[in-house]
Amino acid sequence: MSKFASLLALLAVVPSLAYAQSPVYGQCGGIGWTGATTCVSGSVCSKQNDYYSQCIPGAGAPGTTVAPTTAPTAPATSAPGGSPTTGSAPSAPSSTPAAGNPFTGFQVYLSPYYAAEIAASAAAITDSSLQAKAASVANIPTFTWLDSVSKVPDLGTYLADASAIQTKTGQKQLVPIVVYDLPDRDCAAKASNGEFSIADGGAEKYKDYIDQIVAQIKQFPDVRVVAVIEPDSLANLVTNLNVQKCANAEATYKASVTYALQQLSSVGVYQYMDAGHAGWLGWPANIQPAATLFAEMFKSANSSPFVRGLATNVANYNALTAASPDPITQGNPNYDESHYINALGPMLQSAGFPAQFVVDQGRAGQQNLRQQWGDWCNIKGAGFGTRPTTSTGNPLIDAIIWVKPGGESDGTSNSSSPRYDSTCSLSDATIPAPEAGTWFQAYFETLVSKANPPL
Ligand SMILES: *[C@@H]1O[C@H](CO)[C@@H](O)[C@H](O)[C@H]1NC(C)=O
Repeated sequence: MSKFASLLALLAVVPSLAYAQSPVYGQCGGIGWTGATTCVSGSVCSKQNDYYSQCIPGAGAPGTTVAPTTAPTAPATSAPGGSPTTGSAPSAPSSTPAAGNPFTGFQVYLSPYYAAEIAASAAAITDSSLQAKAASVANIPTFTWLDSVSKVPDLGTYLADASAIQTKTGQKQLVPIVVYDLPDRDCAAKASNGEFSIADGGAEKYKDYIDQIVAQIKQFPDVRVVAVIEPDSLANLVTNLNVQKCANAEATYKASVTYALQQLSSVGVYQYMDAGHAGWLGWPANIQPAATLFAEMFKSANSSPFVRGLATNVANYNALTAASPDPITQGNPNYDESHYINALGPMLQSAGFPAQFVVDQGRAGQQNLRQQWGDWCNIKGAGFGTRPTTSTGNPLIDAIIWVKPGGESDGTSNSSSPRYDSTCSLSDATIPAPEAGTWFQAYFETLVSKANPPL
């Protein structure tokens, strides 16, 4: 209760979302935005991208952080042939990784940005029981998406904060990030298109983005960093080369991801390449090609032990272990993430990549919600899932994690938006939905009320 009380104190300064001024970290502009364009006192409206401006705490104010927005992913899911688709001194990163699970012995750093989103959101809830549950989500670690170059300095802010916490408490800190800024990003869908294009020097710009991340991490060798690498990108190369944009991007994706793996390994970042999910690469026709590609990428990174393995189910809704197969999974023996991982792991091992896994369960609390397995956008009735833990019950799985910050939209349902993807107005999607990455209050409230286990 004391945590809740202190949150209430914070909430007292955060106006409700309905006010004429946007709250700290609230949206204040962007294409299609019709809400408030001014910010509460102490914060300034700052453009993040064409689609999203945000109220950032006043520059230089003590105790504030300039926090990033986080973006969702939009797993693209069409498979060829129309089939379903898809204490003591902290240990410093070094060129020699510690053996074993990189999460063991570390406390996962809580994103102040997500905490502020949660606080503002909880303030808008009138039901006191739901409000308390909503507020408690701020204490559950969630990944920070570095989805544009402008977010990279925030990593430095978080690392400095984590380093200070570590010094003060003696508890080793781990900052979890998502590296997500490939040129021609999200090549098979539209909702999460990025800032770089291959035609416009995107490959060089991506290297600069990685270099900037590396520069931040170098300043804080005492803090551990774990990264999920480029959601959807390599999976798109397995199943979506029939999409022209993906075919065009293949060589650049591979070279860019290789660069990321090598450079991040050089500063001791433990990495998990995104490997889609059971309903995408878990299909019998896709799983061996996937294993071949991921092993190739591992070798291109000189088989670095910092390339720890693969991340699955990022931003998706699949159970780790389903009580029974969802009818939409029919025809795929790998009907949940455990089956997928247990099938893929040995194939990777045979191909020379002794991969370990992390699995996103942030929005996987409820099952049997979708019309089709490939549906990914703001699925109706989803609830927060199993809390992050290293007690996974599966020796191949290092950790259950929450990668997608629950409450941020997967994509807009506004068909006039340039980033509109029709998946976001299917019958199993929650409508109306705001632009990808922006706060979706109604959706968050459902995640809270449907959480399983309950909050
Ligand atoms: C939908 O998007 C268009 C184009 O960005 C915008 O003009 C319009 O206001 C948006 N509609 C709603 C309901 O947000």
